[in-house]
Amino acid sequence: MKFFSAFAAVCSVIAAVSAKPNDAVPFERLNKNDTLLLVVDLQVGLYNVARDMDPTLFRDNMIAHAALGKLFDLPVIMTTSAQTGPNGPLPKEILEMYPNSTLVMRQGEVDAWDNEEFQKAVIATGKKQIILAGITTDVCTTFLALSLRAAGYSVWANVEASGTSTPLIRDVSNSRMQAAGVQLVSLFSIVCDLMRDWRNTPGSPEVLPFLDKYFPVYSYVARAHLAAIDNGTVIPGEAGLI
Ligand SMILES: *[C@@H]1O[C@H](CO)[C@@H](O)[C@H](O)[C@H]1NC(C)=O
Ligand SMILES: *[C@@H]1O[C@H](CO)[C@@H](O)[C@H](O)[C@H]1NC(C)=O
Ligand SMILES: *[C@@H]1O[C@H](CO)[C@@H](O)[C@H](O)[C@H]1NC(C)=O
Repeated sequence: MKFFSAFAAVCSVIAAVSAKPNDAVPFERLNKNDTLLLVVDLQVGLYNVARDMDPTLFRDNMIAHAALGKLFDLPVIMTTSAQTGPNGPLPKEILEMYPNSTLVMRQGEVDAWDNEEFQKAVIATGKKQIILAGITTDVCTTFLALSLRAAGYSVWANVEASGTSTPLIRDVSNSRMQAAGVQLVSLFSIVCDLMRDWRNTPGSPEVLPFLDKYFPVYSYVARAHLAAIDNGTVIPGEAGLI
């Protein structure tokens, strides 16, 4: 009896301890006034290492990640790892978006936070909330995300725009980041959290065209709605469905 009650006590302690991390992480909202966007090693050579997602989708996701800065007028810092070697440059679509933003070309540092110029550029923005994505998820994204957490930043990892060699590696890397308090989020979640209200600016006039390019599952609903209003007819059997 004694053993069982001691065992039950241990179990409830374990339950309390394992429940704590969830309870201890409050819902922190992205605030577009305090947000910095990082484009980390989304290089054309490294792109070929990203094998955990359909490659065309992943290319589009990288560009969409970068475009968040344009939509919400966020400061953007780009960095590359040894880009004169096999890793290559950033896609020209991203470079053309931000001709005037800081691009830190690291010569050797694997963790971008180890590069003094990069670290100074991040600190100089004064922003405390950081959205990032990189190739590879397990190295470039995770190392930097963990370093930023250790330095006191709030971090949102856009899981759709980081890539690595296998789903297993992606999953353990995301778990590792999550355990350190990194918020694992989708593109749509980032957009909606930054926008907050469709009546804001940016709001529906700016966000719907963005979604039409990068998240058509929502904008095609809007297209169908517009088409119905512009030139729609009710087909037999449809009346009475709503
Ligand atoms: C961002 O700053 C603007 C201008 O100061 C303010 O109107 C807006 O409420 C702020 N947004 C958030 C999410 O705090
Ligand atoms: C970059 O800076 C130049 C010179 O200040 C300016 O003419 C140009 O509009 C800027 N481009 C963007 C995309 O901000
Ligand atoms: C509007 O619908 C009619 C048929 O109901 C069709 O003939 C016409 O081409 C449509 N116009 C547009 C702009 O889709």
